[in-house]
Amino acid sequence: MGIFDAYARTPMAQSSGRVETVPEASFTAAGHRYRIAGKTLYFEGGTAPMDYFIGSNAAGRTYARERDGYLFELPVTWYAQKGAWDASPGYEKDGEIRLTRAVEPTCLQCHASRVRPVLGTQNRYGDPPFLEGGVGCERCHGAGSEHAKDPAKAKMVNPARLEAERRDGVCSQCHLTGEARIERAGRKFAEFRAGDRLADFATYFVWKLGRRDLKVTSHVEKLAASACKTVAGDRLWCGTCHDTHSNSDKTQSACVGCHAEAHRQEERCAACHMPRTRTVDGNHGVMTDHSIPKVRKNEPAPATGALTAFLGAGDDRAHGLAYAELGDRRAREYLLRAAPQDWPVRLRLAVLAGDGARAAQLYESVLRENPNEPTALVNLGAYLAGQGRMEEAGRLWERALRVNEGLEEAVLNLAQIRPVEEARALVRKYLELNPVSKKARARLRELGL
Ligand code: HEC
Ligand code: HEC
Ligand code: HEC
Ligand code: HEC
Ligand code: HEC
Ligand code: HEC
Repeated sequence: MGIFDAYARTPMAQSSGRVETVPEASFTAAGHRYRIAGKTLYFEGGTAPMDYFIGSNAAGRTYARERDGYLFELPVTWYAQKGAWDASPGYEKDGEIRLTRAVEPTCLQCHASRVRPVLGTQNRYGDPPFLEGGVGCERCHGAGSEHAKDPAKAKMVNPARLEAERRDGVCSQCHLTGEARIERAGRKFAEFRAGDRLADFATYFVWKLGRRDLKVTSHVEKLAASACKTVAGDRLWCGTCHDTHSNSDKTQSACVGCHAEAHRQEERCAACHMPRTRTVDGNHGVMTDHSIPKVRKNEPAPATGALTAFLGAGDDRAHGLAYAELGDRRAREYLLRAAPQDWPVRLRLAVLAGDGARAAQLYESVLRENPNEPTALVNLGAYLAGQGRMEEAGRLWERALRVNEGLEEAVLNLAQIRPVEEARALVRKYLELNPVSKKARARLRELGL
């Protein structure tokens, strides 16, 4: 079988696409009743179309709906290992059904190829949002290789022939997340191409005190922690055990290749040394432990130490942004020292600022560099409205809704300062997207309906 046909059958090649059919189902998730029929999700109070899927179903599949070109994640996911529908990861404790979580480009850049985000928006895309479902050839072979029907002629990166750091980056661009991944100042992660150094684009942090809980995308960190990798070094990489085109498993010959003297040569080494373990963030997920332990360890309770850079430059800026992302108060001291103090730093400082006027100044400076930053638009609007500067506030909230039409706070705030007819239309339009919003329903009642 040729590479094309073999690869097309792998989970990576099938990791996203437009929904064709969804089997009928009826179930409860996070305390809410759902029904699925004809590519539509029904719930108390409304419905949502199931337009795109993410996940090949090797482990599971989640869904997104499209409205006016904006993509939103749906609250339910199919878990293949358990054979059941349940709440999407992160939605397990939602009191109100959540329908407005933006599908940002980062999500699609790991699951789809040739993604087409609309510039200056948070979650709006071209039609279709990506030109190729799943992980395409060019993600591992560089630009132009999607035409690699004639690979001999195509200019193609061969990961296996790159120096180790660049080779590993090909897989790590998607299989490494760490506790936080921070884009370096002035670099766009989306511009990473096979063959580049990942550390030039982002810094990845992990907790220093060996947090042992297994995350869905922890294969890279886990392998790095293994005695095999520590001692064998660059000789050992993902490609030692995985053939990406056929998704075949070369593990047994790899183990025996390096451990010719080991015991139990006739048995499957991975069965004992790479046990399957539940993940902490994948909801019902079970993953293979890539730290290749001698004996299966009891996972100790997660201990939070200090963040340390696993890959890339752990400077004050990256540390500050990483702590901020994790909601850790240590963020502020790093951010104040950070160089450069570019807009992502000032945005975090604004959110942390106790003083409204100081925060407003920071938001203004964020918007000078990034005029479409949604948090700055919404929060600066609120500050200006508090100062009686309604017209300016209204303009900011309108802009926020062009960035992401699902920003409830911007809708509700605008509805408060606009003439009644216009306000009603705004809230009604929002309720079509999010029919279960108690706040939007209350606002509509206040507006006399
Ligand atoms: C940094 C890259 C990255 C990002 C960002 C990311 N994922 Fe994933 N996702 C992965 C990888 C890699 C796997 C495969 C997990 C594994 O087996 O380790 C995966 C697995 C999944 C699966 C299970 C698929 C299956 O059947 O194996 C689903 C569903 C999923 N992701 C949904 C999402 C959604 C929805 C988003 C965005 C909101 C997202 N992911 C963001 C990399 C990513
Ligand atoms: C997930 C990463 C990944 C994807 C996607 C991928 N490849 Fe590869 N490809 C590799 C790696 C790794 C190697 C090196 C294999 C080796 O030599 O061990 C490789 C090698 C190759 C080679 C050289 C083959 C050889 O045996 O010398 C060709 C040609 C190729 N790939 C074509 C493709 C085409 C065409 C697609 C899309 C249909 C594709 N690849 C998708 C990772 C990938
Ligand atoms: C553009 C992002 C991306 C790149 C690059 C990438 N992967 Fe993946 N990989 C994924 C996603 C997403 C999944 C989950 C696919 C699914 O099931 O939906 C996955 C799944 C896998 C799986 C599990 C397949 C299964 O049977 O469930 C393996 C193994 C894997 N990748 C290995 C690799 C290796 C090795 C490389 C580097 C040569 C690589 N990947 C590069 C995104 C990527
Ligand atoms: C690229 C070579 C290589 C591969 C492939 C490899 N290992 Fe290792 N492994 C090593 C080296 C080197 C060490 C450290 C020295 C030693 O103990 O032999 C090691 C150590 C170990 C240890 C001791 C761990 C400890 O905590 O003391 C175990 C167990 C192990 N390997 C099992 C495996 C199994 C099982 C596989 C296949 C899933 C495997 N290794 C694949 C090179 C490799
Ligand atoms: C020493 C061998 C070995 C190495 C090296 C290795 N893997 Fe694996 N991997 C395995 C085995 C064994 C499985 C389980 C396969 C199965 O159950 O069919 C697996 C499964 C996976 C899966 C499917 C989800 C899961 O956890 O079961 C993904 C994704 C994956 N590996 C990614 C990677 C990535 C990325 C790298 C490089 C950082 C890597 N692997 C390096 C042996 C290895
Ligand atoms: C039935 C479970 C089982 C299987 C299968 C198994 N091992 Fe082990 N292995 C263990 C246990 C338990 C230990 C630790 C106690 C001991 O040394 O016997 C161990 C220890 C090791 C060590 C460390 C030895 C040392 O002196 O520190 C290596 C290396 C290793 N195994 C490699 C392998 C390889 C390679 C395979 C496959 C050819 C394999 N094991 C198959 C259970 C297993």
